[in-house]
Amino acid sequence: DPPGALKISVIGCGYLGAVHAASMAELGHEVVGVEVDVEKAEALAAGRVPFFEPGFEELLQRSLASGRLSFSPHMKAAAGAAVHFLCVGTPQRRGEYAADLTYVEAATASLLDVLGPGELVVGKSTVPVGTAARLAELVAERVPEAALAWNPEFLREGFAVQDTLHPDRLVYGVADSAAGGAAGAGAPPVDAEALLDRVYAPIVADRTPKVVTDYATAEMVKTAANSFLATKISFINAMAELCEATGADVKQLADAIGHDDRIGRKFLNAGLGFGGGCLPKDIRAFMARAGELGADQALTFLREVDNINMRRRIRMVELARQVCDDSLLGKRIAVLGAAFKPDSDDIRDSPALNVAAQLQLQGANVRVTDPQALPNVRRQWAQLDCVDTPEEAAEGADAVLLLTEWRQYKELDPAAFGSVVKTRRVLDGRNALDREAWEAAGWTYRALGRRNV
Ligand code: UGA
Repeated sequence: DPPGALKISVIGCGYLGAVHAASMAELGHEVVGVEVDVEKAEALAAGRVPFFEPGFEELLQRSLASGRLSFSPHMKAAAGAAVHFLCVGTPQRRGEYAADLTYVEAATASLLDVLGPGELVVGKSTVPVGTAARLAELVAERVPEAALAWNPEFLREGFAVQDTLHPDRLVYGVADSAAGGAAGAGAPPVDAEALLDRVYAPIVADRTPKVVTDYATAEMVKTAANSFLATKISFINAMAELCEATGADVKQLADAIGHDDRIGRKFLNAGLGFGGGCLPKDIRAFMARAGELGADQALTFLREVDNINMRRRIRMVELARQVCDDSLLGKRIAVLGAAFKPDSDDIRDSPALNVAAQLQLQGANVRVTDPQALPNVRRQWAQLDCVDTPEEAAEGADAVLLLTEWRQYKELDPAAFGSVVKTRRVLDGRNALDREAWEAAGWTYRALGRRNV
């Protein structure tokens, strides 16, 4: 093993945990991934990735081949690791805004049975502020010579490997040593910062900015960052609503305001808005937590961010009805894209599927296609008709809707594609198509936030 290599456990090998485990092995550590879902643990151990993520299968197989990475369904495999990363999910609670901490609590309880002195528990899951302090107390009660740190993760789906190995910043939330550490007396039992620096040695050596702070700030960095991103998207989508009302063009507007460095062009792509397993549930859990803390007014604007976001989906359905001569009944609609964003097979809170389902409810004959997400759609949205290619989806269509901006859809040849549809009408839900090229090929082009004449 390279000098400085550590024994590391990663508890929970879903999206975040699997990528983190393989990445830590890539950095030279000896890693065991603990995943209670036996099938998932077996698949990962065999080098099979249970989700779509560009570049991840290669990384997983390389890490397995190095002999530094293994997976187990049993927590006892984590015994003796110097660092234990908690990577379990925190979904939205059914029918509520708050986060469901069941998995975090179960994983911690089970980890405490094998945790040893001198070891460090590191939380990576997105949690309501206050969770880390509570878990630190549990650790201190059971194993006073162990410690806990909070180290949020900022990876994006589709760029997970790159984001993990080359993050924008590292954030360590550590026990307040001035207050005597989590155990309550004397110096902290484990130097969490030094240990995390060893875990991330090559990343630290890259001069990646590092913020060492208290638990609450570290937890909030994550939810604040996602809230800011969601707000930025809803801001431009609110401008899109105004553009639709005035005939202005939101894409040019975004380009023009984005030239100001203080604003920046990233995350100003107007369209169907945000979905996925993070942004929507994180802003809701943040609002719920603020309410519990008696500070709900601070985040009432996030309710509006959520509302603006959900209105885009309704607007898309309206636009489809308008172009289909004011009635969706019996109209054939091709839906290009089902994943919540390109380069992912994740369909959690996918705006595309939400729109497809609403169109179907209004009597349209909808066909959905996606390069990666169809197996998930077939499993969870049995009522939707799925087809493998955009051509099949568009055969005889009254309108084509681009709802997830996969590269292969942006590269469609509008002339050739036009020969399969009944009527050349395209609705660009992501402002991703080359309007002129489609119009030149005889298509009626409509988009969210653009002149629709
Ligand atoms: C998001 C954050 O970007 C990550 O930094 C964070 O680590 C992650 O959540 C998480 O909490 O785990 P992710 O959900 O993978 O990452 O996807 P994003 O790239 O943020 O996109 C979210 C949604 O916003 C997508 O539906 C996308 O289509 C939409 N979006 C994004 C827009 O509508 N417009 C934009 O300009 C950008």
